[in-house]
Amino acid sequence: MKRVFSGVQPTGNIHIGNYLGALKQFVELQDENQCIYCIVDLHSITVPQDPRELRKHILDVAALYMAVGIDPEKSIIFVQSDVSGHAELSWILTCNSYTGELSRMTQFKDKSKGRESAPAGLFTYPILMAADILLYDSDIVPVGNDQKQHIELCRDIAIRVNNTVKKTFVVPEGRFLKAGARIMALDDPSSKMSKSAENIHSRISLLDDDGKIKKSIMRATTDSEGEIRFDPEAKPGISNLMNIYSAFSGESLEDIQTSYSGKGYGDFKKDLVGIVQEAMAPIKKNFNEIRETQELKDILTLGAEKAGAIAEKTMKRVKENFGLGF
Ligand code: TYM
Repeated sequence: MKRVFSGVQPTGNIHIGNYLGALKQFVELQDENQCIYCIVDLHSITVPQDPRELRKHILDVAALYMAVGIDPEKSIIFVQSDVSGHAELSWILTCNSYTGELSRMTQFKDKSKGRESAPAGLFTYPILMAADILLYDSDIVPVGNDQKQHIELCRDIAIRVNNTVKKTFVVPEGRFLKAGARIMALDDPSSKMSKSAENIHSRISLLDDDGKIKKSIMRATTDSEGEIRFDPEAKPGISNLMNIYSAFSGESLEDIQTSYSGKGYGDFKKDLVGIVQEAMAPIKKNFNEIRETQELKDILTLGAEKAGAIAEKTMKRVKENFGLGF
């Protein structure tokens, strides 16, 4: 059995990009692997958070994990800050990372753009992510495309420690889905769909009601050509919508293109509205059933115990290999 690890930041507005790039894979993988899914609250404080909102969002993500189909009987679900090994290992890895490799991270460059001085946590963020992954001897990391560079860095750090200190870490592999790996913003298909974009119609959040889903899709940016054809370079808007259609319906891009030949964007968008509404309905229902329950908190408590036991073993090995303690 392979070990799978991934995480989502509890920053609100979890959207269909997060679902199609990551959460959908989380569910697919849980039958044949040992899966550990984390709510990475320590990552979210790399930018300022309202403490009360943060706690709310942590439970929201936990409930969404379960609402999309992650089964706590099969997978471990827990909150990152409940297991101290993440922060601890992160420091040890920080001492085995270089400022040069961190400054090449495109996410850091994007997030620190226009700031005179960026928080140090934003800079070292990928090291904490590497710690998350390496702490559990993870083999597979299901994520969206935007995390590719961070996974590469994690592999580099693991290989470096294995070669220069002692064989300590499993070197993980990223796992990316074809259709959902990079869902673009509906209002601007040149940038990725994001939780923090100001325009709410740039994304479809997993808890959006049917009216909002319809509005966001119907007003999504396309082009003036009117032909439903997959060409991300020349036709990024409609290509992004076709990707979403394909990821939700399971139909290939070629089949979608064929079945909409001669039809207009309006017809295509109307059908896509129906597909997305239908996919979101059970998620919302499940979310509402679990979100306010004690059971949800109990699952996180148990998850932290299980994750903590694995992390403790790794930390013992790490400390021994590095010569820490006595
Ligand atoms: P986060 O919280 O930004 O996003 C959660 C997951 O959603 C994917 N994703 C997307 N996929 C497709 N299209 C999009 N527009 C889109 N936007 C986001 C992300 O790739 C991610 O898989 N650093 C991570 C969280 C993290 C993590 C980890 C992941 C922390 N430690 C260890 C894996 C392993 C992040 O900020 O994800």
